[in-house]
Amino acid sequence: MAGVSGLQAQNLAQQQPHPPQAPLANTPPQPNFTRLENLGSQIFKDKSLSEPRGTSCNDCHQATSGFAGNNGSRIGVAQGSTPQSIGGRNAMSNAYTSFIPKFQFRVTGEDVDPVGGFFWDGRADTAEIQALGPLLNALEMNNKDAPSVVRKIAASPYAQMFKDEFGSQIFTNPNLAFQKIGVAIAAFERSSALQPFSSKYDQLIQGKGKFTPQEANGMKVFMDVNKGNCASCHLMNPNSSKPSDSLFTDFAFYATGIPRNMAIPRNANPSFFDLGLCGPDRAKPALTSNVPANISIEKFCGTFRMTSLRNTSEKKAWMHNGFFKDLRDVVSFYATRNSDPKRWYGPKGVANDLPSAYIGNIINDRVPFNRPASAGPALTEREIDDVVAFLKTLSDAPAPPPGPALPPLVGVRSNPFGN
Ligand code: HEC
Ligand code: HEC
Repeated sequence: MAGVSGLQAQNLAQQQPHPPQAPLANTPPQPNFTRLENLGSQIFKDKSLSEPRGTSCNDCHQATSGFAGNNGSRIGVAQGSTPQSIGGRNAMSNAYTSFIPKFQFRVTGEDVDPVGGFFWDGRADTAEIQALGPLLNALEMNNKDAPSVVRKIAASPYAQMFKDEFGSQIFTNPNLAFQKIGVAIAAFERSSALQPFSSKYDQLIQGKGKFTPQEANGMKVFMDVNKGNCASCHLMNPNSSKPSDSLFTDFAFYATGIPRNMAIPRNANPSFFDLGLCGPDRAKPALTSNVPANISIEKFCGTFRMTSLRNTSEKKAWMHNGFFKDLRDVVSFYATRNSDPKRWYGPKGVANDLPSAYIGNIINDRVPFNRPASAGPALTEREIDDVVAFLKTLSDAPAPPPGPALPPLVGVRSNPFGN
C-alpha cells in the first residue's frame, strides 16, 4: 500500500508526543493512536469538510451502525450534504478494510473471479485513493475541487498537526496536501481501533467465551455446505484462534440477484441498472493476461464485491442497493430466493435489478442458490433465526471509554459449538 507504513508511523509517534485533541464524536480519544492515525481520525470526523458544512465521513460510517449508516436516509442509500443529494448505493463499513486486497482477477482451476478493490464495485485500489472520492462526490461531501478541501483543512483546529506531519509548507501545494488527506485517513482506518476483533465470536475462538445453543446452531447452519453454505463465500475458520483467519469474506464479486430498490432516485428510470463491476460508477476493468481468452467481461456485469459480515447486524440497511432494512429478511432471501422468487421480485418472479442480458450472470450453481423451487426453502424459519443470532455474535464490543485499560479477560477454553 502507498503512503506511510505502520512502522514509519510508529517511529514518528515515538519521536513526537501526542498533541491534545478535542473529544471525538463517536470513538473516544485513543491514547494509543499515532499522530498520523489521530490526524486521520480528526479529518474523518470533521463536519466542516462538506459543502455546505455538516456532513463528515463519520456521518455515513458510524461505529454504532456497523461503521456504516446512510447519514439519516431511510431508503437504504446514503444522503449527502444536502437533502436533495441521495446517492445510488448503501454505505459500506469502513472497519476491517485494511484486509481488502487490490482489485484483481483470481483464477483457480476453471474458476475466474474478480476480487478486491474498495467500494461495492472495487474501483479504488487503496484506502488512500478511496478516501478522496467522497470529498469531491457531489452526492456525498460535495466539495468542488481539491484546493477547496485543503483550504478547510488549513483553517481547521488540527492544521498544525497536519503541518507537523507533512511539512510546514504542505498547504502551499494543494494537490500534494489533498493526497496527504488520503494518507492520514487511511492510517486511521488501518489502526486497531477499526479492526478491534472484539466480538463474541473472537472471544469464542480464543477460548474466552461461549455461545448460546441458538448462536452455536446458527454457526453450524452458516457453515453447513448443505444448508446456508454461507461460509463458502463469507470465509471463516473457527478452529484458528487468530481472528483475522475469520474475515467473513473472500472479497470476490458475485451477482446474487438482490431485488431492485425502487426508492433509489436513479432507479426511477426503468432502463437504468447498477451493473457494479460494469459501471456506471466505474469503467469496466480490463481483463488481465491470467484470464482465459474465452472469458468476456460481460460475464461479470451485475456483480458486486462481497463485504465482511463483522458488525453487519448493526447496520440499518444491507446489500449494495440497501434493499433490505431487516437482517432477518437478508437471511430469508438466501433461504427462499429460489423457492419463492415472487416474494422478492413481484408477480413475474424473475430477478428485477439486472437487464435480461445479464440475468444469466446471477449465481445459481452453489448452495443455497442451486435449488429447484420445488425443493422448498434452504433453511427453516428457526434456522433463519439461529443464523441471525450467530451474525449478532460478529459485532465488536462497544469501544471502551477512555481511561485505564480493563484487566485482561480470563476464561477457560470452551467447546466452540456451545453447550
Ligand atoms: C454521504 C455518505 C458518505 C460519506 C459522507 C462518506 N461515505 Fe464512505 N461510503 C459511502 C457509500 C455509499 C459507500 C459505497 C459507495 C460505492 O460502492 O460506490 C462508501 C464506501 C466507503 C468505503 C469502502 C469500504 C469497502 O469495503 O470497500 C470506505 C473505506 C469509506 N467509504 C470511507 C469513507 C471516508 C474516509 C469518507 C470521508 C472522506 C467517507 N467514506 C464519506 C457513503 C459515505
Ligand atoms: C456465492 C457467495 C455467497 C454466499 C454463498 C453467501 N453470500 Fe452473503 N454476500 C455475498 C455477496 C457477493 C454480497 C454482496 C452482494 C450485493 O450487495 O450485491 C453478500 C452480502 C451479504 C450480507 C450483507 C452485507 C452488507 O454489508 O450489506 C449479508 C448479511 C450476508 N451476505 C449474509 C449471508 C448469509 C447469512 C449467507 C448464508 C445463508 C450468505 N451471505 C451466503 C456472497 C455470498
